[in-house]
Amino acid sequence: MSSYIIEGGKRLEGEAVVSGSKNASLPILASTILNKGTTKLYNVPEISDTKITEDILKILGCKVKKNNGKVEINSKNIVKKEIPEELMHQMRSTVVMAGAILGRFNEVRFSYPGGCDIGARPIDLHLKSFEKLGINITENAGFIICKCDKIIGANIDLDFPSVGATENIILASVYAEGITSITNAAMEPEIVDLANCLNKMGAKIEGAGTSNIKITGVKKLKDISYNIMPDRIEAGTLLCMVAATGGKVSLKNINSDIISPVLTKLEETGCKIDIRRNEINLEAPKRLKSTDIKTMPYPGFPTDMQSVFSSMLTTSKGTSVIIENIFENRYKYMSELKKMGAKITIEGKTAVIKGTKRLIAAKVNSTDLRGGAALVTAALVAKGKTEITNVEYILRGYEDLDKKLRYLGANITLKEGE
Ligand code: UD1
Repeated sequence: MSSYIIEGGKRLEGEAVVSGSKNASLPILASTILNKGTTKLYNVPEISDTKITEDILKILGCKVKKNNGKVEINSKNIVKKEIPEELMHQMRSTVVMAGAILGRFNEVRFSYPGGCDIGARPIDLHLKSFEKLGINITENAGFIICKCDKIIGANIDLDFPSVGATENIILASVYAEGITSITNAAMEPEIVDLANCLNKMGAKIEGAGTSNIKITGVKKLKDISYNIMPDRIEAGTLLCMVAATGGKVSLKNINSDIISPVLTKLEETGCKIDIRRNEINLEAPKRLKSTDIKTMPYPGFPTDMQSVFSSMLTTSKGTSVIIENIFENRYKYMSELKKMGAKITIEGKTAVIKGTKRLIAAKVNSTDLRGGAALVTAALVAKGKTEITNVEYILRGYEDLDKKLRYLGANITLKEGE
């Protein structure tokens, strides 16, 4: 188990470059299964979630070469149509590999996915959608077996705009016979990135980024190179961390449009934001003002920003109300924040934060990826030396977080566990 040791109280100031998006990399890495040749991806973040995905690709039979954010995948000789159980359990997004394997071979075997414990996170919408595409699903000893002679385009109306289900439908229907249309599709920018990548390969996907997506089946795909979009959640995280310390940052390699709900809320707390081409400049006041947030599917305030933003508000002036609408168990980190002196009360999906002037260092434990980042945010402003254990959660999704924060002036060290 690794830890971060953070001596709080330093005002962060300087520049940071946003890495490639985790949530775009995972489905795009899966999409390379569909191309029976070589796909070169650039700007893939070096985090444990991409590593697990690359490991699964290798186990399936892909040749994977990696160098400094560039990943080259040759999927010509895939031999397995099964996602290994132990890797499936390590993260939820492995579920989108099922759609890609199905799309290529009309067959896949996998178990229920794992991932951060932030709610029930069922996969019923994924499975119902596969059935609509003519795929037969059986369950045996904890495994889900999907099979069909051919995938046939269908109209799929999602009960909820699930990101993973939308991606899985796209991946499964790239080679389908006829047209697949998704209504109430998720509109997240990472879905647009996946569609752009697949379209570059030769797929025919229209409407990504809106709630109606149309996929016209094609016969084959071609080799391409593709540059993964920047990570909007990492960008938002760095902005909040700097803002919590009353600091100033120039964030490079980020299009502000994809995090505008977070920027609007940061402005409500008193931060000055100046947007340039591919750059966001933020200057925070000495003490932030409170504000309210409500998580919603894109283009609403992202659930993945809820924990870090809430943590930043614990030292703001006034009372903030947080409503978490997407995941029912996403407040676990708050009990750790309370150990540091945060004043929070939770009632169902609502959390009320009464801003306090200062937090105090403590030994706290990461409960999940974004919850762990919330603890880092708190530790950066707390008086004294905070130890955050179980940072493996944080390393799943943030590339070089400690390095980037040190560059901004933070006193943070990573103590690697055995
Ligand atoms: C993706 C993101 C995750 C983000 C989330 C919501 C990746 C790798 N992960 O996760 O960081 O927090 O979108 O923006 O991109 N649901 C069902 N049945 C299903 C599928 C989902 O009930 O079959 C529910 C979930 O339990 C949850 C809600 O729908 O309450 C949203 O989930 P979904 O959009 O599917 O999130 P993920 O794709 O898992």
